[in-house]
Amino acid sequence: MNAKIIDGKAFATKVRQKVAEHVARLTADHDLAPGLAVVLVGADPASEVYVRSKGKMTVEVGMKSVEHKLAADTSEADLLALIDRLNRDQTIHGILVQLPLPNHLNEDLVINAIDPAKDVDGFHISNVGLLATGQKSMVPCTPLGCLMMLRDHHGSLSGLNAVVVGRSNIVGKPMAQLLLRDSCTVTIAHSRTKEIEALCRGADILVAAVGRPEMITGDWVKPGATVIDVGINRVEGDGKSKLVGDVEFDSAAKVAGAITPVPGGVGPMTIACLLANTLTAACRANGLDEPEGLTA
Ligand code: GUN
Repeated sequence: MNAKIIDGKAFATKVRQKVAEHVARLTADHDLAPGLAVVLVGADPASEVYVRSKGKMTVEVGMKSVEHKLAADTSEADLLALIDRLNRDQTIHGILVQLPLPNHLNEDLVINAIDPAKDVDGFHISNVGLLATGQKSMVPCTPLGCLMMLRDHHGSLSGLNAVVVGRSNIVGKPMAQLLLRDSCTVTIAHSRTKEIEALCRGADILVAAVGRPEMITGDWVKPGATVIDVGINRVEGDGKSKLVGDVEFDSAAKVAGAITPVPGGVGPMTIACLLANTLTAACRANGLDEPEGLTA
């Protein structure tokens, strides 16, 4: 194996430490504790684990954590009323509505009801538009985490060829926008892309966010490229269940210059960036300097 392994777990720990230090200063100097509200509708077990983990880490960095667990049959009107209350609550600086929502709720409507300044997921159409036009916005957590690791590894990304495999609103599209803003030449590839392997082989930076276990193998990777694997797929093999990415790690690591593992790569960065975004939102809401190195 030749590639440098990018340790997302260690990186995320450093990001959370930076957030905690900044929160401690805010609390001491301004009597301000950033607050994050997480809204979970229904009892999806994976979402419950994720929400618990978010709550624990929020408290660990010194922030206020509020969880709203609503029944699966909650009406859209009730959910919108809760969001309205949280929008007006001055002790809450970040609001996250856990996705996916039950089918009877309109996700776009719900997300766009969040005050864009408190939209720590960066999913509100205002934030999407601000990011696309290069203006200050809230940036989706997973792409922000990927960008931090890429900047840390490369220094400048200027002029590099980046291929993002996957065109989701949550990862693929905002990732492409961020790489473009850092002066990469960006291509978004997807299920209909022609000669996708050859396209990927031209990438200095290859970001995989398709949700298909081990789709990208070593022969898709340019020698020395940086491979960021956003996929988290549970697969059964040898009678055991394990997590794999969208990249076949062993073959890709023989060719790449650097690669993120699954687990322990992008995953831990997502929650760390959620905390960073909550801190950023609290600073902006109070007219204070934003934390350095924790925003895009
Ligand atoms: N469900 C899985 N990941 C996420 C995320 O990053 N944000 C929200 N709101 N829901 C999710």
